[in-house]
Amino acid sequence: MSSTSPVKPEHLPQHIAVIMDGNGRWAKKQGKIRIFGHQHGVRAVREIAEGCAELGIKYLTLYAFSTENWNRPKFEVNALMGLLVKTIRQETETLQKNSIRLEAIGDRSHLPQDCQRELDEAIEATRSNDRMTLILALSYSSKWDILNAVRSIAHEVKLGKLEPEAIDEDLISSFLTTRDYPNPELMIRTSGEQRISNFLLWELAYSEFYFTDVLWPDFRKEHLIEALKEYQNRERRFGKTSEQITK
Ligand code: FPP
Repeated sequence: MSSTSPVKPEHLPQHIAVIMDGNGRWAKKQGKIRIFGHQHGVRAVREIAEGCAELGIKYLTLYAFSTENWNRPKFEVNALMGLLVKTIRQETETLQKNSIRLEAIGDRSHLPQDCQRELDEAIEATRSNDRMTLILALSYSSKWDILNAVRSIAHEVKLGKLEPEAIDEDLISSFLTTRDYPNPELMIRTSGEQRISNFLLWELAYSEFYFTDVLWPDFRKEHLIEALKEYQNRERRFGKTSEQITK
């Protein structure tokens, strides 16, 4: 497909997941401290959320803060939390204007009180929006989610509410915090790193991965379009042969 050809609206993913990476390196290139990169990353968040909504994508999950990110220097963690509070407060109006519903996955009890409050308010204010759902993965890691699901399932079995034989893929999915969303068909990671970093390990089992060298603060709608064109060029076989798919 040529770079000028448009994306096919009938063949778009329903759900895109993004690992927003490269903020620190972007800042370093400008001779600035890391938080400067995070601040500029907010513009990319806005552009991509708007772009996805305009294109008709129904779900967008952004990896905003991982469980492992708590190990970063305290100054950076505090600055990131402050930025989250400020961004959620400032962007709620844009979410409303675009009829975007905000949701969050992750261990929210670990977030600072003001961050939890701001998030709860924005989630409540946008709950009836139906154009797109924007899911922020905050204090999230997939192993954390799977571990909790396993514990809950084991508990149900112990109480005699569930037979071990009844545990299947759908049941496990129903115990994950992502239970209300379809699995992402496309996962984008910026900044040239090619890792999954404890993100949606169960849900991305059959997703197409798209890696770009663009650093997150520079990621714009045209980069999203490039990723979608590449996605539309892939043949999704789900373990079958090419002949079975095209038949
Ligand atoms: C990864 O870059 C980025 C993060 C850990 C934070 C992402 C946060 C934002 C884009 C800002 C706010 C987001 C929302 C949703 C309001 P990095 O710091 O690991 O970069 P590096 O790999 O170059 O060091």
